[in-house]
Amino acid sequence: MDQLSEKIDGLQMGCGKKVYVCMLRGSDETGSGTQEQPFGTLAHAVELYFDKAEEKLPEDVCFILRKTDEDGFQDAPKAALKKAISTVEVQLKKARKAVENKGKGKEKKVETDEQSYVTLEEDSSLPTAQKIRIRDGENFRGKRVMVQGWVHRMRMQGRKMIFLTVRDGTGFLQCVLADEMARSADVPCLTIESTVALYGQLVPVLEGKTAPGGHELQVDYWRLVHAAPSGMDAFETKLNKEANPDVLFDQRHLVLRGETASALLKLRSIFLQAFRAHYAKHNYSELTPPCMTQTQCEGGATLFKLDYYGEPAYLTQSSQLYLETAIPSLGDVYCVQMSFRAEASRTRRHLSEFTHIEAECPFITYDELLERLESLVCDVIQYVLADPYAGPLVRELNPDLVVPQRPFRRMEYGDAIAWLAEHNVLKDDGTAYEHGDDIPERPERFMVDSIGEPIFLCRFPAAMKAFYMERDPKDRSLTLSTDLLMPGVGEIVGGSMRIWDFDELMAGYAREGIDPSAYYWYTDQRKYGSCPHGGYGLGFERFLAWALRRDHVREVCLYPRYVKRCAP
Ligand code: 4AD
Repeated sequence: MDQLSEKIDGLQMGCGKKVYVCMLRGSDETGSGTQEQPFGTLAHAVELYFDKAEEKLPEDVCFILRKTDEDGFQDAPKAALKKAISTVEVQLKKARKAVENKGKGKEKKVETDEQSYVTLEEDSSLPTAQKIRIRDGENFRGKRVMVQGWVHRMRMQGRKMIFLTVRDGTGFLQCVLADEMARSADVPCLTIESTVALYGQLVPVLEGKTAPGGHELQVDYWRLVHAAPSGMDAFETKLNKEANPDVLFDQRHLVLRGETASALLKLRSIFLQAFRAHYAKHNYSELTPPCMTQTQCEGGATLFKLDYYGEPAYLTQSSQLYLETAIPSLGDVYCVQMSFRAEASRTRRHLSEFTHIEAECPFITYDELLERLESLVCDVIQYVLADPYAGPLVRELNPDLVVPQRPFRRMEYGDAIAWLAEHNVLKDDGTAYEHGDDIPERPERFMVDSIGEPIFLCRFPAAMKAFYMERDPKDRSLTLSTDLLMPGVGEIVGGSMRIWDFDELMAGYAREGIDPSAYYWYTDQRKYGSCPHGGYGLGFERFLAWALRRDHVREVCLYPRYVKRCAP
């Protein structure tokens, strides 16, 4: 039996004090270890109760852990305790060493039993280092530079060499700290996620070796800007990758620093640029409509209600109606605006708050609407794939992404219902889908995944669509509407031609039981120079989930909002 196992064996038996830890809703900051106010991590709880003099946990304390609501509070598993104790011990060792070093004052050379640390000073005879961003490194090879960032990875090779991978938000850089650099008095405090300033020469890596950017920084001076915690609070300890997704979303602010999360957010930013570039190229005006409204656009079931100075109001479901009012003033318009849906379902593609890219275009036909959508999707993918920074990053995440072939497949709603019947895709009650049925997420995904290419699902029955949709003149029970479906995600766009006749709009309100009085400003568009027009709304997170092949739209959000998740 190893020493650690011995330490644990006496624990959890004669339990005097119970210390509660809840990985779901506990908090290290505000918790007190009671059942009502549990800590958030076992690591933190163990650190608090660890007897530093005896170097063990007191035998009368036991740790009760809740990992899931289903399992409830249970004795913390031995393996987890073992890991926590071992981290505290390493931490204690480090802290003792740091104190010893400090005690020896400010002499240039500090000797300890095991190792000698030095206080580094920049060599003033070297050329002045130019401050650069990691992304620009290639232009500065052979020159002396200064890079600042976060320690992303760290590997110590004996006492003479430290390899750091540093991140600055523009890229990653391998940095080599050799000899004296590896003996800096700051080394004991150097931890993952500490911030550092590193000076030195950028040198291409030797043939056969790899490093981000193909070069490494041979450090001749460095400073610790800020030391991230070690021990129980260390970044690696807090971010347990096996933790359930909800725990990881509690720690989203730290998860963001990971390679995949930062790549996704970087790409999100570049995709947004691509959308704006498309609209700029075609002379659309960007608008920023209000998020707080007193009208609804997509039905009452998913409205978030709020108290607006004593009056009822809502968070917007879509900016479409406001955009429509701006086309007589500006022509083609678009917006990138948050929309809100009180969706009860926790699916892979539903958010309570999502980024909605919407456009409205006067004097277009239904066919032109579909063509504009094709052009938008293809331009955006083309832009991102051609970007020297984003292109390779996208290919890493989704090697199969290519600009889709135009024209996209058009499929009538009626043909989709027939396709489902032919492929024996049935409703939950075992019956076949019929004309007039909504096609839910699962069958929709099955169909588009089987066909394996973008599909415009066209002309939905009026009864299942919003009050503002124009009827198909060839079959007035249908609307001139479309959903764009993408493999892997399903619907990413909803769009239609809009009713532009006054009486038809009034009939639309009546059908949906909407009181038109609050919509007078929308109705007025059908009085003062009405025109045929159409538009669409594209769910940006769904678009990204398709393009970057993500399982879940949450992955491409900074701080996703979904059922029971409104923090951090
Ligand atoms: O089909 P929807 O509801 O259409 C509208 O809101 C129209 N007023 C848009 C317009 O014509 N201007 O939503 C449009 C798109 C969907 O195709 C989907 O991509 C996205 O918005 N979307 C959501 N994305 C994430 N979570 C949700 N809960 C979403 N609801 C809609």
